[in-house]
Amino acid sequence: MVNKLFGKGLAFMKSAILAMLRSSDGPVSGPGMAKSLGVSRVAVFKHIKALKEAGYEIDSGPGGYFLKSWGDFVYPFEFSGRQKNIHYFESLESTMDKAREMARQGCPPKTVVIAGQQTRGRGRLSRKWLSDAGGLYFTLVLRPTLPVALAHRALFAASVCLCRALRDLTGVAAMVKWPNDILVDEKKLVGILSEMAGEGDLVSYLNLGVGINVNNSPQAFEPKSVSLKELLGKPFPRRNILEAFLEKMEVCDPADANIIDDWRELSCTLGRKVLIQTPRQQIEGSARDVDTDGALLVEKADKTVERITYGDCLHQILEPQK
Ligand code: BTN
Repeated sequence: MVNKLFGKGLAFMKSAILAMLRSSDGPVSGPGMAKSLGVSRVAVFKHIKALKEAGYEIDSGPGGYFLKSWGDFVYPFEFSGRQKNIHYFESLESTMDKAREMARQGCPPKTVVIAGQQTRGRGRLSRKWLSDAGGLYFTLVLRPTLPVALAHRALFAASVCLCRALRDLTGVAAMVKWPNDILVDEKKLVGILSEMAGEGDLVSYLNLGVGINVNNSPQAFEPKSVSLKELLGKPFPRRNILEAFLEKMEVCDPADANIIDDWRELSCTLGRKVLIQTPRQQIEGSARDVDTDGALLVEKADKTVERITYGDCLHQILEPQK
């Protein structure tokens, strides 16, 4: 199925056919599409058949073909203009492994590896990431001209871009939690994981793995999580989220120190009582700021400030305002 959909030249045809069906209010004639694409009617018929097999709801009648619903698909041909960089797999152990393999083999920057499901999705701190169908799971390969010491900025940039994309698209009150989660009403909507390799002092590749609860229902297994479908009361197209995120990342310079200011504005961690669990210790205090290295500055009861570069951050329950 996957080869039928994405083979050389075929993806372009699918993309063009979908664009014609989506831009029309009524049915679109097969011969008309064949003429504009410069292919035979049989070729159009075969592409339509493959699209239907992939799950698109396309009806046909005397007037031609008609798309009954937009559907929720993240196939490469859904991303017109960037489809050659998008790699879709129905199931992977983890998009991180596939992206690492591709990055080591020299894939171009902005390569995106998407999985419909993951059988061994990974989270931060060696946790598992539940990856049922309906969620959006991808790894974006970046090759920023950045010293390794500043690589954290790309991660902050990704959280900011995704948080803004989600707000713009859906209106949900998404906020960033240190270091790189996105929450809505204290429930986790997005997790981001990074993996990097350097050559000398410079980043060679930086892979950003993003898991977004979109049309899945993670709450039964992860009570502190939420999906967009649960928040909005209806499914939301995953394609739109990825497209909006990639657009924002394109105009965001990961070397720009201002990204930390942008992160501060969207933060639900700063000003909160937090409990930080690091591999060596547990620290309790008030989250005062993040520094230019992305480290969290936590003021403890004795007024000393601890600089945290790595660990699990738990937000303490907010005291009701008096
Ligand atoms: C976290 O919050 O702990 C980070 C979760 C990151 C999950 C994503 S899903 C796509 C990519 N592939 C993985 O195996 N993990 C990341």
